[in-house]
Amino acid sequence: QRLIRLMPSILAADFLRLGEQAREVAEAGADGLHIDVMDGLFVPNISIGIPVVAALRRAVDLPLDCHLMIVDPERYLEAFVTAGATHITVHVEACRHLHRTIQQIHDLGVTAGVALNPATSLTAIEDILPDLDLVLMMSVDPGFSGQTYIPRSTAKIARLRRILDECGLQHIELQVDGGISAANVADVVGAGATSIVAGTGVFNSLPIAETIQALRWAIQP
Ligand code: DX5
Ligand code: ZN
Repeated sequence: QRLIRLMPSILAADFLRLGEQAREVAEAGADGLHIDVMDGLFVPNISIGIPVVAALRRAVDLPLDCHLMIVDPERYLEAFVTAGATHITVHVEACRHLHRTIQQIHDLGVTAGVALNPATSLTAIEDILPDLDLVLMMSVDPGFSGQTYIPRSTAKIARLRRILDECGLQHIELQVDGGISAANVADVVGAGATSIVAGTGVFNSLPIAETIQALRWAIQP
């Protein structure tokens, strides 16, 4: 069985208690923090940016996985790494020269991922796949926490899993993001995901330790 990483998305956290909640997530055994950065152009929302990454870097020791939902992300890669990002994911739909952008991320000394919107075909990343450390498959249209998982995502995850396995690229993380909770995480993992992002599924009304435990139990009964 594959090792599954749980990556709480702080977009759904209580921003008035961000440091406290980040530490709770760490104590509950999460594998990293997923940080959703939005520019109001690539997605119809504006969230958080570089200073918040720097603050989280001081709060916890966890890997900081920055999901950049911004156009032309190459403008800010260095700033995010300097702030403490340990991984950067950019959107295939937001990059003019994706190969160069991935190279720039690696040159900064961190791991690199590419995200695909629900409507983007897997063929869009076929020629960059061997250069990646992670593929992020969006299971909702990016922009907001708390949306409903798009059911067709499960078949797409399975297709990408097959491609990764057939090409000997099992080391690439297959991350899925959007609408995942203890109710559907087993299907997502069953289809071949290795990294689970959950916002509302972690920061709901229950204690964080409980929601993370529920996700773990749903995956490894
Ligand atoms: C959506 C973000 C997600 C989001 C997930 O644009 O990329 O990371 O915060 O939130 P949930 O798990 O609530 O769908
Ligand atoms: Zn995200």
